[in-house]
Amino acid sequence: MASNLGLLFPLLLQLATLMQFLTVIVTSQQPQVPCFFIFGDSLVDNGNNNRLVTQAKANYSPYGVDFPQIPTGRFTNGLNSADYIAQFLGFTTFIQPYPNATNEEIVRGVNYGSGAAGILEESGSRLGDRISLSQQLVRHATIVARIKLLQRNITFTNEYLKRCIYTVNMGSNDYINNYFMPNDYTSSRIYTPDQYATLLIRRYSLQLRTLYNLGARKIAVFGLGLIGCTPYEIAMFGTNGQPCVESINNAVKLFNDKLKPLIDDLNNDFIDGSFTYINITSISTPQEGAVAPPNVPCCSQLRPDGQCVPNSTPCPNRDLFIWFDGFHPTEVANRVLASRSYKEVSPMDTDPYDISQLAQISI
Ligand SMILES: *[C@@H]1O[C@H](CO)[C@@H](O)[C@H](O)[C@H]1NC(C)=O
Ligand SMILES: *[C@@H]1O[C@H](CO)[C@@H](O)[C@H](O)[C@H]1NC(C)=O
Ligand SMILES: *[C@@H]1O[C@H](CO)[C@@H](O)[C@H](O)[C@H]1NC(C)=O
Repeated sequence: MASNLGLLFPLLLQLATLMQFLTVIVTSQQPQVPCFFIFGDSLVDNGNNNRLVTQAKANYSPYGVDFPQIPTGRFTNGLNSADYIAQFLGFTTFIQPYPNATNEEIVRGVNYGSGAAGILEESGSRLGDRISLSQQLVRHATIVARIKLLQRNITFTNEYLKRCIYTVNMGSNDYINNYFMPNDYTSSRIYTPDQYATLLIRRYSLQLRTLYNLGARKIAVFGLGLIGCTPYEIAMFGTNGQPCVESINNAVKLFNDKLKPLIDDLNNDFIDGSFTYINITSISTPQEGAVAPPNVPCCSQLRPDGQCVPNSTPCPNRDLFIWFDGFHPTEVANRVLASRSYKEVSPMDTDPYDISQLAQISI
């Protein structure tokens, strides 16, 4: 499980332009990059958890109610943000989850996203099995080896992998399903929020360097959203008269404020690497004049862990909601997140590149 985009999307104003934009993208032929590899948690999981023993899976109704076929394991009513980024990059088919990807498909990229997974191994364990970021990198190493075998020219494969886009969306569960779950985890008693953020960033730094060492050069790293504004955390902790749980948002801000300088360090350390920071706080701040959708989930019946009750009836007007369940954005919110990370609207949204610029960098 994981997270959140924070408050109030400027949804309604952006939709019309976005639809036009999508039509243009979908009709173009070649993707802008040869492949797209996706690392992350339930915000991007598209079925990796389906065969794991865990509560953190979404391959049941009403998840996928707006998906072309059936519930796939995506933690939303339709497409997730990684699906949209793939579309914006010009891919005309979905990037497959790791267990499903055939040899033909892996050369276009793989989705390793796993609900409940974190930067730390133990994050999310209370819900069952999950593929932590370190394990996702192990899977990626096997995929890189398979691509080398298929392409039969290591020089060629190395150059090929450099031109691909890699997105990493991790850390929400290190807060939701670790630090702010004090009955199951001791981290909040051992570390101050600042110490914990430092610990996470130190581990994340090693993981992002491993990704570089596996051939990645164009890497977009997503900051965390305002987890304290998710319906689940608000119901769990209360807000003391504020709109959101401030202690959680403050802890998350410490993480984001350390992640940005990490991205700068990586860009300095690796001359031929392009890392960029995606600022979800900025992306989820409403544009002036935008209508604020309600901060309640579309699924009115939630399980104790914040997911929709199986076979419950979701809200009919899903385009007017930010949250599908207690943590996860609706398709329409995912589309806004993806479109502003692909093409920034405010100069704060991405730094130093948005994903469309990352795609164009010549290697
Ligand atoms: C992945 O494979 C499983 C088992 O063969 C299948 O049930 C599932 O629909 C596949 N998922 C996707 C996204 O193709
Ligand atoms: C291997 O790939 C490189 C880079 O594309 C190319 O220059 C070289 O000719 C290829 N080698 C063979 C044996 O095809
Ligand atoms: C993200 O954007 C917000 C403005 O919406 C800004 O206050 C914050 O400093 C930015 N975060 C980082 C790490 O750059």
